[in-house]
Amino acid sequence: RRIVVLISGSGSNLQALIDAQNTPALPDAKIVLVVSNRKAAYGLTRALQATPPIPTAYLALQPYLKANPKRTRQDYDREIARIVVEAKPDLVVLAGWMHIMSEAFLDVLIGETQLEGIERVSKPIPVINLHPALPGAFDGAHAIERAFEAFQKGEIAHSGCMVHRVIKEVDRGEPVVVRNVEIVKGEPIEEFETRLHKAEWEIIVQGTAKVLDDVAPLEGSS
Ligand code: GRF
Repeated sequence: RRIVVLISGSGSNLQALIDAQNTPALPDAKIVLVVSNRKAAYGLTRALQATPPIPTAYLALQPYLKANPKRTRQDYDREIARIVVEAKPDLVVLAGWMHIMSEAFLDVLIGETQLEGIERVSKPIPVINLHPALPGAFDGAHAIERAFEAFQKGEIAHSGCMVHRVIKEVDRGEPVVVRNVEIVKGEPIEEFETRLHKAEWEIIVQGTAKVLDDVAPLEGSS
């Protein structure tokens, strides 16, 4: 079963998926492509250093737009979708992808938009995203800092992280895996963040395995 992973940063969640490939945690699964919107993303190095190396693609938004003033953000998203669809994934995982995944991208993956030069997607390709907060709690960016601050103000007792399906409303898709993460009174944010990332490394694998089983069940499984 074929997985494409989209990253923008260090790729520690990508690394968790690389390490889980073809283990009982993620059986019969192969990351066939890693796509980054940033050339400097260390995740690209992790892909190339995997055994066997994982193909990578990189397309940054600004240079793409600057190359031709007629291009729009939707064109960029469709270009990313093209790169993804050409890898024929069963599942797309956003692991620290810092762009909002727009309608233009999703419409290609569900087969609504036909891109010239590649055959239309016959079966919708599911997309999941990792978010460092609980459902509906701190949608959008800087969720870790915002949760930590809310804890300091006594507004929340703990935080968490989740893997959710990606739909057109940002961070609003149905949760696939949700994990509570404790915040300890008086601890520096770095300790909370470390605890949270460790939880993410587990749920990114669990969430991927769960959705993969929905969309491409293992042969012989009941
Ligand atoms: C994770 O905390 C994820 O929840 C957020 O970005 C971070 C990605 O970290 N969207 P990494 O690049 O996987 O190390």
